[in-house]
Amino acid sequence: MLIGASGFLGGSIVRKLRAEGHQLHLVGRKRPADLAEGMGFSAWPEDADEPPADALGEAEAIVNLAGEPVAQRWTPEAMKRIRSSRVDRTLQLAEALAGHPSRPAVYVAASAIGFYGPRGEEALTEASPPGRGYLADVCVEWERAVDFVETLGVRTVKLRIGIALGPGGGALKEMAPPFRAGVGGKLGSGKQWMSWIHADDIAGLVSFALAHDAASGAWNATAPHPVTNAEFTKALAKALHRPALFTVPEFVLRLKYGEMATVMMASQRVLPEAALRAGYTFLYPELPAALASLRL
Ligand SMILES: NC(=O)c1ccc[n+]([C@@H]2O[C@H](COP(=O)([O-])OP(=O)(O)OC[C@H]3O[C@@H](n4cnc5c(N)ncnc54)[C@H](OP(=O)(O)O)[C@@H]3O)[C@@H](O)[C@H]2O)c1
Repeated sequence: MLIGASGFLGGSIVRKLRAEGHQLHLVGRKRPADLAEGMGFSAWPEDADEPPADALGEAEAIVNLAGEPVAQRWTPEAMKRIRSSRVDRTLQLAEALAGHPSRPAVYVAASAIGFYGPRGEEALTEASPPGRGYLADVCVEWERAVDFVETLGVRTVKLRIGIALGPGGGALKEMAPPFRAGVGGKLGSGKQWMSWIHADDIAGLVSFALAHDAASGAWNATAPHPVTNAEFTKALAKALHRPALFTVPEFVLRLKYGEMATVMMASQRVLPEAALRAGYTFLYPELPAALASLRL
């Protein structure tokens, strides 16, 4: 059962799990128009407190990706939706599972490197403590809600997802257009670390976490080689065959995104220690090959 798989990362994950022969049942707010043949669907409307019982019935595994997009202006209403779509919905799911006669063997939950907050040059592993700020607080609560599922005897893996690069969405959808227009450039000093990951590696990590009984707890879902914003800018410009002569000052980001700009400027040097230790082999450990694969 996959919750919130109609979005950006859901596409790669569904493709991968289907190719592996899993039988998939999607749960979302509304039925996707392009639901593939053989895939089930149950609606979990935004105002419903309980997940659809029919979907819980036979689920051997649950992957939960649902969450109101973070990359938007953080109005009080948006902040409420960002939190409740993650924390409250996970708690509702845990409660429903608690009262259900059968439980899945494994629950793979999306979390985010926002957990760590802005951390400068510090190398961040799964053992690092959480950071400060709204997003870090939401991630801490989100993961705590996942821990309730674990107390029900379900193996859980919390993927602290980094800046995901893939076709048709995510960070590149915002970042690439100025570069294409020839006005791309680094953000501020460009010294801040960006912990990116290819969408195919997120799908790979989900599949790995589902299949490996020893996988549990928090896993950083980031490539083994994070880069600075200046390095990212250079690689993106090269992949797009465009110059990167400009510098985008923080105040410009603030004008567009408000408080969210803090997250875009945050330095986070995250390392996927747990995944590497468990034996996961990254398809795209280095940024240039990851960008090249996307045929920007
Ligand atoms: N993309 C990244 O770079 C990145 C980085 C770090 C963490 N993550 C996390 O990974 C997960 C998947 O990311 P994504 O980029 O695929 O996200 P996405 O496309 O923005 O959204 C995922 C799904 O969440 C559901 N959703 C959206 N707003 C909701 C709301 N208000 N209430 C309930 N459900 C809602 C939607 O599914 P339905 O319409 O089917 O209900 C949507 O397809 C998210 O939880 C995100 O926070 C992503």
